[in-house]
Amino acid sequence: METMEFRSPYLLLTFLVLSLTALYFSPLNQIHFSIKLSSSSSSSSSSTTSSSTPHQTQNPEPEPDTQIVPDHVKQTKSNTERIEEDLARARAAIRKAIVTKNFTSDRNEIYIPRGSVYRNPYAFHQSHIEMVKRFKIWAYKEGDLPMAHNGPTTYIYSIEGQFIFEMETRPSPFMAQHPDEAHAFFIPLSVSKITDYQFRPHHETFFHRLVRIFKDYIFVIADKYPYWNRSSGADHFMVSCHDWASRIERKNHKLYENFMKVLCNANTSEGFKPTRDVSIPEYNLKAFNLGPPRLGQPPDKRPILAFFAGAAHGDIRDILFKYWKDKDGEVQVYENLDKKKNYHGLMGQTKFCLCPSGSEVASPRVVEAMYAGCVPVLISDYYAVPFDDVLDWNKFSVQIPPKRIPEIKTILKGIPHKKYLKLQKRVMQVSRHFELNRPAKPFDVFHMVLHSVWLRRLNFRLPVAI
Ligand SMILES: *[C@@H]1O[C@H](CO)[C@@H](O)[C@H](O)[C@H]1NC(C)=O
Ligand SMILES: *[C@@H]1O[C@H](CO)[C@@H](O)[C@H](O)[C@H]1NC(C)=O
Ligand SMILES: *[C@@H]1O[C@H](CO)[C@@H](O)[C@H](O)[C@H]1NC(C)=O
Repeated sequence: METMEFRSPYLLLTFLVLSLTALYFSPLNQIHFSIKLSSSSSSSSSSTTSSSTPHQTQNPEPEPDTQIVPDHVKQTKSNTERIEEDLARARAAIRKAIVTKNFTSDRNEIYIPRGSVYRNPYAFHQSHIEMVKRFKIWAYKEGDLPMAHNGPTTYIYSIEGQFIFEMETRPSPFMAQHPDEAHAFFIPLSVSKITDYQFRPHHETFFHRLVRIFKDYIFVIADKYPYWNRSSGADHFMVSCHDWASRIERKNHKLYENFMKVLCNANTSEGFKPTRDVSIPEYNLKAFNLGPPRLGQPPDKRPILAFFAGAAHGDIRDILFKYWKDKDGEVQVYENLDKKKNYHGLMGQTKFCLCPSGSEVASPRVVEAMYAGCVPVLISDYYAVPFDDVLDWNKFSVQIPPKRIPEIKTILKGIPHKKYLKLQKRVMQVSRHFELNRPAKPFDVFHMVLHSVWLRRLNFRLPVAI
């Protein structure tokens, strides 16, 4: 058997985890997962790298460490061992769900994911169940307001503050009481708030300050606690919607090599790695609102083929405006929408809502389109779409590469009505995963963000001292 050849325990573990990855991701989405773990006993990172395609891995054997361990034995175990055992049970449950095509839960399940919008609905459902049951996150207490433990809750970076509020302020049931029981660690800094307080006047030297604030924070917590060094940061994450979040990595690539960055600006050309990092949707929230208004009409009451209104940010919009601005009755593209017209109302009367990248890859229009029951049309380069591990975007959106902008009308008109109806129905179905609730509800966007972190955490193991 192939596994016998693995001598190092870490390689063997990596292999078992890869087996799960192989089952979890659809063959279309071949992920070459490789994560580096530093040995807990040495500060130099003695790393093991392994990669494999889903086709190469064999069916996994049931894991020995999922067996019930008697309590008296348990007490002698380290916290790290307990945490890893817990995650092993979760993996085993997910694997079982994939095989049996059903779930096991000790609660009443309010929603059962089914249908083609999910890459593997059984894996996702069980994984979500296990997450709700087990996942504990420690948010570091270090850092002061206003730049830590706080973030914007309105305007386009609002998901940053909404996440921090739901996680820490409420606080969330996912919050660990003690860092020893945590599976993952949250760095509660807000790039948007740092920008507000440190970036005046707008000047290039600001970036050094942003980089320093993050680096200092990481150094403090890595020095004070054992957790960062234990995983080289692989079970640590930050959340940001600000365009500049990716800049914290500048000149510190080694430090952040494994650190999970949960970002709106998921630009794969700027260092975003879909296997390590997490892409989250952008929301343009008004005060006291947790989402855009729902003004969607039924599919047969949508006379507009395509709609866009927004500012001329970035190259892609320049091209869009060149070909379509104020030119066509069916493809309606506006730079300045008449104040008397209702933006969300128009989306609700449109079949396909154009979501071109602006000065960053993500656009709040994706969520606005979903709330309006309008099929999102993604026009972007290098954009890693949100929740791609779980959702199959081809089933509820249209993707048009920027170079085909001149053909928008032909492409959209070429979609048969029956197919449009299917896409539209699925938009309504997946919109629950893009909803913000307070408190958060299972399967909503807060849970989807955490699930993305949970999934990445399931995909590696901490070295356990023997
Ligand atoms: C799936 O599991 C649920 C709960 O465990 C059970 O009620 C249901 O009958 C099962 N369905 C099938 C088709 O086995
Ligand atoms: C973690 O590693 C850094 C760099 O090697 C070191 O300075 C720090 O003291 C370590 N932290 C702990 C808690 O040992
Ligand atoms: C994504 O990153 C690349 C490389 O930095 C850049 O050229 C491109 O403009 C970025 N995309 C957006 C929409 O910002």
